[in-house]
Order: sequence, then C-alpha cells, then structure tokens
Amino acid sequence: MTALASDSPLLKPITVGDIVANNRVFMAPLTRGRATDDGVPTDLQVEHYRQRARAGLIIAEGTQPSEVGKGYTNTPGLHTDEQQEGWARIAEAVHAEGGSIVVQVMHAGRMSHPDNSGHESVAPSAIAPKGAQMFTKGGMKDIAVPRALETDELPGVVADFVNASKRAVAAGLDGVELHAANGYLLHEFLSNGENLRTDSYGGSAESRARFVVEVVTAVADAIGAEKVGIRISPGHGANAATETDNWDTYAELLAQINPLRLSYLHVLIQPDDPTLSKIRDSWTGELVLNTGFGVVSERDDMERLLADGPADAVAVGRPYIANPDLVERWTIGAELNEPQPATFYGGGAEGYTDYPTLN
Ligand SMILES: Cc1cc2nc3c(=O)[nH]c(=O)nc-3n(C[C@H](O)[C@H](O)[C@H](O)COP(=O)(O)O)c2cc1C
Repeated sequence: MTALASDSPLLKPITVGDIVANNRVFMAPLTRGRATDDGVPTDLQVEHYRQRARAGLIIAEGTQPSEVGKGYTNTPGLHTDEQQEGWARIAEAVHAEGGSIVVQVMHAGRMSHPDNSGHESVAPSAIAPKGAQMFTKGGMKDIAVPRALETDELPGVVADFVNASKRAVAAGLDGVELHAANGYLLHEFLSNGENLRTDSYGGSAESRARFVVEVVTAVADAIGAEKVGIRISPGHGANAATETDNWDTYAELLAQINPLRLSYLHVLIQPDDPTLSKIRDSWTGELVLNTGFGVVSERDDMERLLADGPADAVAVGRPYIANPDLVERWTIGAELNEPQPATFYGGGAEGYTDYPTLN
C-alpha cells in the first residue's frame, strides 16, 4: 500500500453531535467477552480501548442495559454502580490519550440464554431464531422460544435504555449508540419477520417503528440528542433475522427520528444494496457506514465510500481488533497484523491487548 494523500477524506476531522473526531476511521462495536461474570469492565478492557484511542471515534462493544438484555458470556453491562465505575476507567484512559468514545447499548432480545443472563429471553413475538445457538459456559446450546413482551412491560424496557445511557454519561463516556441492528431486540421490533405483534407495536410500518422511536426519543430527552447515535442493518440476516423487504418501516423510523438531530446514523449494509441510497436520501444527519461481515473493511474501499458520498465516516471492525494503530498504518501504507478469530470472544490478553504497534 502507498501512503494516503494528506487530503484523504479518511483523515479529515468530522463533528458528530458534540464530538469532534480527528479522523473518519471510527472503530466499530466489537463484543470481545472480556468483562467479569457480573458484566464489570476489566483493566484489560481499559488497556484495549486506550490502545485504540487514535480512532476518530471508538464505538465500544455491545453493553446490556439490564440482566435480561444480556446475550453472550462476559459482556459488559451498564446497570450497576460497579459496571459504571469500570466504564469510567475506560473513558478516562481514552480521553487521556485524546480520543473519544461512546458505548453501544445493546439488548440482546431473543439472542440470549438463561445460562448467561439468568432470565428467560424476551422478544416482540414468541419466535425462536431458527437454527441459532448460543455459547454458554456449558458449551453451545440451542436458543429457546422467547417470551413475547407484554405491552405494559415496554415502558420498563425503555427505562432500562434510558438508565444505561444516563450511566454512560455519568461515567464520562461521550455518548451512546443504540443497537437496532443484527437481529437483537430493537431490530426484532423493526423486522417484519420477528415482529408479529397485534398491539400498537406491530402490523403497519408505523407500528413496527414505534418502539425504536420511543427508545431513541426517551434516551435523547434524557442525555441530549447530540450524545445519541443509532445503528441499523436493514434486511441483514444476522442472528437468524428474517426481515424481508421492509423499507417502509425504515422510512418511517428515519422520518420520525430525523427531527431529533441525533449525533449520527450508523448503517451496516453492503454498499451496492439499493437501500443505502434510499437511506442517504432520507437521513438528514451524519451517516456512518459499515460494510458488514462479507469482506473485511479495506482502506481504499473505505476511502472511496467517503469520496463518492454514501458515507460521512466509516466504522471498521476486524482491522481494529488486530491493529491498535490502524490509523497510523493506513496513513503511511504499512502492513497490517492479521486478526486471529480464535481469540475474538473470551479469554485474556492474548489476541486482545497484545497485537503489536509499529513502534
Ligand atoms: C468479534 C466481533 C464482535 C462483534 N460485536 C459487535 C457488537 O457488539 N455490536 C455490533 O453492532 N456489531 C458487532 N460486530 C460487527 C462489527 O461491528 C462489524 O459490523 C463487522 O465486523 C464487519 O466490519 P469489518 O469488516 O470492518 O470487520 C462484531 C464483529 C466481530 C468480528
């Protein structure tokens, strides 16, 4: 690789909400299973994020707003004082290096297991994710049919998102990203495959969008819209999501949240998917793009997505796992370390804080 031109759009600062990012190479949210069994962020996580503080913005890993919202083993939470203190240590370390960091608030919905969360899983409708299994301390286990949330329980779930977001700000983080992608709870509400409700939260596009609009609005009211981003993945079949042509729901969602003036919209989608241009035309704010799991994000493709217009910033996942100094490497055109999937989820420092930097 050659060095980037000094005027490369990847290296241009960008303001998202009240965050001034030094470059447009954001770190995508990455679940790594290094928190304690109680969901408390560890010193290893402090070091991991400190090492990656040169990212324009770190979007920290999916973090449960409640016990029942926990999906995988050893994911962090943001519903106890101890968890909040752990996040405060991470925020302090990243800020000391001049970086910015928001946390992804993720309720796993039906993608959960009582062995991990201690609770029966919940979802908009009682539909199991077909063929999906969950890693637990006892190995891979089938995922059971979730319990459909009662209408009168929904305000409590909204309150969990609000409380976790308030704790994020109290911990000194720069904001939150609400996880409405990849087949977890908020995406399940949007999806015409996973949401078969007959109350005012299912049926029409407006009704399927309603719960996510309520969560986004309540969180924005509580901590300020400039501190709130949202991630969506229309039509993405991750975690056995069966959403089909569902543009009407997303059009409704975007129309309703545009006036809030959120910090950013984060879209996980293949760049050649025609839905991306519809989103670009409908969304009035900053758009962060991640090109999904199919191919690993590469520098020149990311630069083109910024230059050609579909994205204002890009979120990069696996390259950041293996390259704490990704921005420097991309800038000078240096070789990259290869990510090691065997150490993606769980374990200690190996494959987490020991990837070498250039110097
Ligand atoms: C180990 C791992 C963990 C992930 N955890 C999350 C997560 O917590 N939340 C989320 O929205 N996406 C998660 N993703 C998806 C990434 O954010 C990103 O969309 C994906 O890695 C594709 O981008 P890339 O080609 O740049 O890696 C994860 C991906 C990987 C590989």
